[in-house]
Amino acid sequence: MSPPLNIVVLAAGKGTRMRSELPKVLHRLAGRPLVEHGLDAAAALAPAATCIVYGHGGDAVPRVLAGRGLAFALQAPQLGTGHAVMQALPHLDGRAVVLVLYGDVPLVRPQTLNPLVEAAHGGALAVLTATLDDPHGYGRIVREDGALRRIVEQKDASAAEAAIREINTGIMAIPAGRLPGWLGRLRSDNAQQEYYLTDIVALAVADGVPVKGLDLAEPWEIAGVNSPRQLAELERVWQRREADRLMDAGVRLADPARIDIRGHLHAGSDVSIDVNCVFEGEVTLGDGVSVGPNCVIRDSRIGAGTRVEAMSWMEGTMVGEAAVIGPYARLRPGTELAAGAHVGNFVELKNSQVGAGSKINHLSYVGDATVGARVNIGAGTITCNYDGANKYRTVIGDDAFIGSDTQLVAPVKVGAGATIGAGSTITRDAPERVLTLSRNKQFTLAGWKRPQKNKD
Ligand code: UD1
Ligand code: CA
Repeated sequence: MSPPLNIVVLAAGKGTRMRSELPKVLHRLAGRPLVEHGLDAAAALAPAATCIVYGHGGDAVPRVLAGRGLAFALQAPQLGTGHAVMQALPHLDGRAVVLVLYGDVPLVRPQTLNPLVEAAHGGALAVLTATLDDPHGYGRIVREDGALRRIVEQKDASAAEAAIREINTGIMAIPAGRLPGWLGRLRSDNAQQEYYLTDIVALAVADGVPVKGLDLAEPWEIAGVNSPRQLAELERVWQRREADRLMDAGVRLADPARIDIRGHLHAGSDVSIDVNCVFEGEVTLGDGVSVGPNCVIRDSRIGAGTRVEAMSWMEGTMVGEAAVIGPYARLRPGTELAAGAHVGNFVELKNSQVGAGSKINHLSYVGDATVGARVNIGAGTITCNYDGANKYRTVIGDDAFIGSDTQLVAPVKVGAGATIGAGSTITRDAPERVLTLSRNKQFTLAGWKRPQKNKD
């Protein structure tokens, strides 16, 4: 039987270069805090326990990560990565393999971590390394006759050591039983006056414990976020991976460099997406859906064959098949469009169901409404759903025709097949199949003259 896995995520550092009040690991990548990305990779390894070491920024980190069965260890003050792991010791199982991850390294993949953990199963210390063209800033892997002997930090390195291109990613798998002893022997007599976790490598060598260096990671995978620039760079790496995944599944992207997915986008076959679209939360696009440029779609399901035209914004919506939305439509939470519905420019919908084949094509607000099938809602129609205190519903029957510039003062019902004359303010229910209108009588003043400008 393999030993249990315990994961320690180091997230106490200050992140000075972010120049932000927010703890670094809570800055967002693809819409989620950095630390959550690492936790996703960790969760894929099914650990018996996961402990987050936090410090800078008070309890902001445990608050964001509450309710997930994680353990938290406070590190205050922050005296280095070795000192950080020391704080997690009470939460660790002495029989476990301890995998150390960094909260500011978001792109690491489970398939890279797995062999590292396995390498430590027999009691060895396993260090994930990478070989970089520019190793500056990283701890260097010092080998003798191929065997990993120690790690030297950039600030402590001799010129010869600084020339080494194999670096410490910071990710290690450590036999838990050895940790208290090794951590207890760390010293801070180094350039940064910190307790370096990396010094356990030399201690393991001294104790005759095998040390394995696995050069497995892709450079982007172990890249940490230290500055807004690096955060933005990793965001593009992430988004490019998402774009590639979509294209590999057959989605046609006008430009893979101009799409942002902050959550999960599920797409059927023959889906096409134009430039500058943002997808947030859980979004599902059915077969043949096309999305025009500059759309924002959040937590929505869109049925097969529907066209979303340019500049449309949708949140919490369910759309049937072959609907047409936009350009410039705004669909707010609770909007449900049945098959073949059309919603046009400068139309706002909220908490409303629109039946099959109905059209709301121009400049309207429809909120808290139930609209039947084949209804035509003319330009400039407003549901007056709010009296300043409460919201009320508007119900419009099948085949109704609402003339332009109508106000429907809710609660109100328009019967099936009813016609409402343009410019009406409807305050009482309108019966089915007949014309209802409220409108001042038009009159003409014969012989009326326009006023003239006064002389001098
Ligand atoms: C560390 C490694 C270095 C490696 C590099 C990879 C050490 C001594 N050095 O250097 O070999 O190449 O990462 O990116 O381990 N942290 C705490 N408490 C602390 C200090 C740090 O929780 O007291 C956390 C930080 O929040 C961060 C991680 O540990 O998530 C790494 O800290 P950082 O200061 O960035 O380490 P580096 O100097 O980059
Ligand atoms: Ca770092």
